Amino acid sequence: MNAAIPRPRMSSLTDLQPPADGLLEDVLSGLSRSPKRIPSKYFYDHRGSELFEAITRQPEYYLTRVEQALLDARMPAIADAVGTGAHVVEYGSGSGRKTRQLLRGLRAPVAYTPVEISPTALEATTTGLMSTFPFIEMLPVCADFTRSVPLPRAKRPARRTLVFFPGSTLGNFTHDEAVDILTGMRHILGQDGRALIGIDLQKDPALIEAAYNDAAGVTAEFTLNLLVRLNRELGCDFDLAGFRHCARYVREQGRIETFLVSLRAQEVHVAGRAFRFGQDEAMRVEYSHKYSRGGFAALAAAAGLAVAEEWNDPKDWFGLRLLRPV
Ligand code: AVI
Repeated sequence: MNAAIPRPRMSSLTDLQPPADGLLEDVLSGLSRSPKRIPSKYFYDHRGSELFEAITRQPEYYLTRVEQALLDARMPAIADAVGTGAHVVEYGSGSGRKTRQLLRGLRAPVAYTPVEISPTALEATTTGLMSTFPFIEMLPVCADFTRSVPLPRAKRPARRTLVFFPGSTLGNFTHDEAVDILTGMRHILGQDGRALIGIDLQKDPALIEAAYNDAAGVTAEFTLNLLVRLNRELGCDFDLAGFRHCARYVREQGRIETFLVSLRAQEVHVAGRAFRFGQDEAMRVEYSHKYSRGGFAALAAAAGLAVAEEWNDPKDWFGLRLLRPV
């Protein structure tokens, strides 16, 4: 067990002891590169997770709203395609609302396994669901879903495994990282499993850009909170008034690229090392890929998965894909 992180008491917890994150190493190496970059996974400290929840309620951020409506509308078809007695495995543990939609809509799922790196988030998700779904065995796994994850076995045998990966979180990874994640998923699925993936679709760039530049400034605060976290946890001296949030859609790459842009020439210190930022220098902090129909099918195929069913909302803004092993 990782000595630094106290694990909550969950009798059925499988603790794969994910390594403590390499925040300092990643920040030092990211600031040494040109262009500078910091991985987006570091957005999600306590405040960052609160801000992300607030983003999902902004009128411009259509992704969550549209995906929830799509799940509701297509739940009978999803339940038909998945069948009875699934072991549902979710990558990450979000607010739980989409999880509840799925567990309520499927036919007699036997077990639910959230795979989550944060033990506290894992406990909150599991305890919250246990009382609502007393007949579904809760088998949380503390692990990093970007690596291979062996699944716990349910007491009642499952007819098939269903991996659920909503929210277009896959879009926050590069193409190669996404292929690796889907390949790991393919191994979990075995011969007969299925994966239900939420993907944001390519559309009018103005709509996409608005979602990442909400008028209330919540996304800007979310992005800048990364610097608050680095100052607090690593003792850096980022001047919050010296950077601004910038998110723009790059059509050729089909993705939002988010940066923190330095408003002036300045120097920042991390662990005794100085890093220079030029005026207007942009440090990349996130990708959010938007998929075409064929582009996503090709990505899945690269991981040995085929699209068995596809559902889009009426405006083709957001999609759910049911994948099966080839
Ligand atoms: C979690 N992820 C899918 C969000 C996205 O849309 O890329 C994170 C986010 N970043 C800014 N706004 C929302």
